[in-house]
Amino acid sequence: MARSTFQPARLFDADDLVESSDRVNRDRRSDLGQFFTPKSIADFMASLFDACPSKIRLLDAGAGNGSLTEAFVQWLCQLKIKPDSLSVTAFEIDEHAVPALHEAMTRCRTECESVGIRFTSEVRHEDFISTASYSERGLFTERLRFDAAIVNPPYRKIQSTSSARKMLSAVGIETSNLYSGFISLIVRLLVPGGQLVAITPRSFCNGPYFKPFRIDFLSRMSLRRMHVFESRASAFADDNVLQENVIYHAVKARKPPTYVVISSSSGVPGAIVSARGTPFSDVVHPDDIEQFIHLETDDSHRIARNQMSTLTASLTDLGLKVSTGRVVDFRAREYLRADPEPGTVPLIYPCHFHQGGIAWPKIGGRKPNAIHSSAQSLGLLVPRGCYVLVKRFSAKEERRRIVASVCDPEILAGEAFGIENHLNYFHANGHGLERDLAFGLASFLNSTVVDQYFRQFSGHTQVNSTDLRSLRFPSTDQLRRFGQQHPPGLSTQAELDRLVDEEFF
Ligand SMILES: C[S@@+](CC[C@H](N)C(=O)[O-])C[C@H]1O[C@@H](n2cnc3c(N)ncnc32)[C@H](O)[C@@H]1O
Repeated sequence: MARSTFQPARLFDADDLVESSDRVNRDRRSDLGQFFTPKSIADFMASLFDACPSKIRLLDAGAGNGSLTEAFVQWLCQLKIKPDSLSVTAFEIDEHAVPALHEAMTRCRTECESVGIRFTSEVRHEDFISTASYSERGLFTERLRFDAAIVNPPYRKIQSTSSARKMLSAVGIETSNLYSGFISLIVRLLVPGGQLVAITPRSFCNGPYFKPFRIDFLSRMSLRRMHVFESRASAFADDNVLQENVIYHAVKARKPPTYVVISSSSGVPGAIVSARGTPFSDVVHPDDIEQFIHLETDDSHRIARNQMSTLTASLTDLGLKVSTGRVVDFRAREYLRADPEPGTVPLIYPCHFHQGGIAWPKIGGRKPNAIHSSAQSLGLLVPRGCYVLVKRFSAKEERRRIVASVCDPEILAGEAFGIENHLNYFHANGHGLERDLAFGLASFLNSTVVDQYFRQFSGHTQVNSTDLRSLRFPSTDQLRRFGQQHPPGLSTQAELDRLVDEEFF
């Protein structure tokens, strides 16, 4: 990627995001999704705002100790053309954070007044979801309206039965994470032309759960800037996956932008940010019903996108489907067997993957090798056949995020197979694939070009079946030919990449 013609900025390590406050205990912080933004990142976020009106109403929702508002104030005060006034509304639910928030507002007042900006602030020790959704429903006489919002919202899953979920639903917001709920509400509270700068997990960029959020956000906001950096801190404790964070700047407008500035930084202290303008149609493909957000952060991503865009077949064109393995082991415990025995069929876990194929059974391993085959367990099994399996969770240190293997009945005995839930599997309407086609498909999926393409729209190590469905593929004939000539597992990665390149691109 070329060095930025856009203003470079410096960031500290992304792990600083989980910096803790001594004053609040760890459990409560985790319940509240409380991770404070370090100053360097807060300053970077503030620097992304464009010129604001002369009377600014700023929202800081989930304000914590007020570091984002302080960064905004510092940015504002050094502008050549300063606004007349700044009015801040800071929401914070945690009483332990409120005193520090008040202190931050006092410092902001002093700083603004020293350069002639009138400053007012309101610290609202309230639940933002409740107040904002009530305001949107017109249940208050006050209607909250803002010209700008700077936010690091809490990150936490919200149950479908929770009051937060119900309040969000009441204003037409369907989402399962607090952060996307916050952002959707904030978007509604902005005036036309109002600006948002936020830092959140990157998980909303792909996957089925965030589809309603993506559609809602992209229809109301014009994305101007996306900055990606990798955090070693997993934002969601129960996911146990690598989670990248993104910072974005967007302006309230229904018309999509022509270009989005995509930037990235390594997370190394003092790293320079590189940035480039990317056509919006490359960020969100106009014909993509999933509205995935693609972030090309380096040249290999761009090359992969160009290559993948030459492929014409969808999964449907191949006559294939992808599903998630049906055997959820803790729910099927009564059918599981450590080793094969009469009346059982093979049960495949990710640990059985071996060089593009399946090494089964793994005697003495931690996972069961077999599942009892009976009328009761029939619904958990797939008929004997050739399936392409893809890990749903790759290890962080694994070179590729997409790891595929062929489950080959010529090697594996059994009239049916169990596929465990940590795997996705490609099938032909519930049955196996033609063997050559399966070989070709697995090799294609294991190529670096697919991996690089995948990394543009997924910032985590989880591979959803929707992600796989969204890919373009070579034709059936091409895959079949490739599979015939090159069974999986025989080549090194470099050799596989060379062959895939020659055959498909
Ligand atoms: C990720 S922290 C960010 C704090 C601060 N903005 C920063 O960037 O350092 C999110 C904050 O939102 C607060 N919070 C969580 N749920 C909230 C709610 N429903 N309403 C208002 N604040 C909430 C938490 O207590 C926490 O301080």
